[in-house]
Amino acid sequence: MKILILPDPDAAAARVADIIARTLVARPEAVLGLATGGTMEPVYARLVAQARSGQVALDRMTGFNLDEYVGLPPRHPQSYHAFMRAHLAAPAGLDPARLNLPRGDAPDAAAEAARYEAAIAASGGIDLQLLGLGANGHIGFNEPSSSLASPTRVKTLNHATRAANARFFGPGEEVPRHAITMGIATILRARHALLLATGAHKAQAVAAMVEGPVSARCPASALQMHPAATIVLDAAAAAKL
Ligand code: GLP
Repeated sequence: MKILILPDPDAAAARVADIIARTLVARPEAVLGLATGGTMEPVYARLVAQARSGQVALDRMTGFNLDEYVGLPPRHPQSYHAFMRAHLAAPAGLDPARLNLPRGDAPDAAAEAARYEAAIAASGGIDLQLLGLGANGHIGFNEPSSSLASPTRVKTLNHATRAANARFFGPGEEVPRHAITMGIATILRARHALLLATGAHKAQAVAAMVEGPVSARCPASALQMHPAATIVLDAAAAAKL
């Protein structure tokens, strides 16, 4: 694992955006594994700014997002489809069809997960996989106890994760109980993994990911087995290393 510690969340997001941009400059048709979550918002803002100023072209890449809530159609404002339209496709003037996500409203979620896994393989595989980190050590929606050999599948979200993500939902709106997520094995197949974590509330999970045993208790610790994983942190997230 290569660990980069930047002074603050802005500097950390800028570094991640630069790594993505460098990947796209070298290979404009790269396949990017993409992530959602508050941590990613400044990353996409910087990438969009770089695209607008002509430093990088986004219109030939293909995106495959990590996950989507089961039960939410793409038009639902809290769906990850909507997140990607709002933070990347619309501001960058990108055809949203370039950004693949599992369909949360598919009639058979398990079949949708299998279709998605096959689509990733058919694309030639992911060149660069962007990842956030759950405060409980999850990546994508691979909650603690996820098999380290798991493919894309349906996962039940645990209480802490639903509580953490409730801030994105309106009052009285239920956070979905299940998600379709790339598996740990899917993530480990990416040619380069790039995880960003910022803030003191991630420090415990960061320490478990980097210095703990490789264990399903902390799904992100599987990245220790990845031959090309870069972990970008701000000082607060790195405080327990
Ligand atoms: C969500 C997503 C993850 C994300 C994580 C952290 O549950 N499924 O992909 O990394 O939460 O989110 P945030 O960046 O908002 O802390």
